[in-house]
Amino acid sequence: MKIGILRERLPGERRVALVPDAAAKIIAAGHQVVVERGAGSAAGFLDAAYEKAGVTLVADAAALAAAAPDVVAKVRKPSAEEVAALPKGCTLIALLTPGANEEILSALASAKITALALELVPRITRAQSMDVLSSQSGVAGYKAALIGAAALDKFLPMLTTAAGSIAPAKAFIMGAGVAGLQAIATARRLGAVVSAFDVRGAAGEQVRSLGAQFVEPAAKAEGTGGYARAQTEDETAQNAAIIAAHISSQDLVITTALIPGRNAPILVTDAMLATMRAGSVVVDLAAESGGNVEGVVAGETVVKHGVQLIGAANIPASVPLHASQMFSTNVRTLITHLTAEGGALKIDAADEVTGPMLVTNAGEPVKR
Ligand code: NAI
Repeated sequence: MKIGILRERLPGERRVALVPDAAAKIIAAGHQVVVERGAGSAAGFLDAAYEKAGVTLVADAAALAAAAPDVVAKVRKPSAEEVAALPKGCTLIALLTPGANEEILSALASAKITALALELVPRITRAQSMDVLSSQSGVAGYKAALIGAAALDKFLPMLTTAAGSIAPAKAFIMGAGVAGLQAIATARRLGAVVSAFDVRGAAGEQVRSLGAQFVEPAAKAEGTGGYARAQTEDETAQNAAIIAAHISSQDLVITTALIPGRNAPILVTDAMLATMRAGSVVVDLAAESGGNVEGVVAGETVVKHGVQLIGAANIPASVPLHASQMFSTNVRTLITHLTAEGGALKIDAADEVTGPMLVTNAGEPVKR
């Protein structure tokens, strides 16, 4: 099988879908890898490293298409222009934002492309190493804690100095999934006193195992596949009262709550922000999905009632080396999964991992 890697064209996207080490492993398994020049440079992986790994470098997207790879992997969904430059009939692996991307999905179908959306990797144990949402959420949670710490007007740890004793800052993490747990662990390492809130019952035990306090929700709202379900109006009101009572004493709040296929739930209202100390900081990791905080603007910092509200956008791209390394492991494991005996590509719509990820199959949109 021949695998092609494109350079990301979205402004600010510094990740690459396959790093040289992962390319070397794919080549050792008997495949060929073709990479567009410069694809890894924003993540610190220069062309020379790919060459050393045994990759064939090509000048641009047209040259990559001419090399006729069976599979093209990239990080972000292609633009219409990028779809037009893809090798006809190839299989595309990328984050495709299915559900909010009809135009591109039909362009992929018209170009007879088989497309696998990385967001749709099923959350089953055997697919865990292919789960890009998890690997990138971990990166985002870690960085959110650092962004918050850097913006805060306080130290995070307790300090005892000749100039006096400093009390530790209080950090509150809302949504204790993959990103939230990493934010908790990072804020704890920085010395903050950490608490967390989630509507899934299972989250409580995980939060406590990291040494943080769990703020119990009024009602549990477990959904399917390890995700949360949307809350009823009553549940939302009861949880809002619990959050309101807790948030006013917090210095740093990091929100990470998402509901698959819907806008992110609003957890922090403007009235709650008004109860926080001027100078405190809120980092909203859900900003690009509508936000968990009223008034958040994705990609911008706004000040509300003296509180800095940071609308975090594409945070994994700000840790491009490790984010790409983890993304590559996910992509490589998926490619191994898609390899038939003899090394050819096998797309089996009935397979429990491949099937749910297919958004177009040989030019046909996959209906669900
Ligand atoms: P996510 O990114 O969809 O949501 C983040 C967190 O927000 C979740 O913990 C969710 O419960 C929480 N949330 C949603 N609505 C909320 C609300 N109104 N108030 C407070 N919190 C709210 O979820 P994520 O982090 O991708 O995964 C959640 C869980 O899925 C993980 O903790 C894990 O148990 C499971 N999982 C399983 C995998 C596997 O088996 N392969 C892989 C990854 C995750």
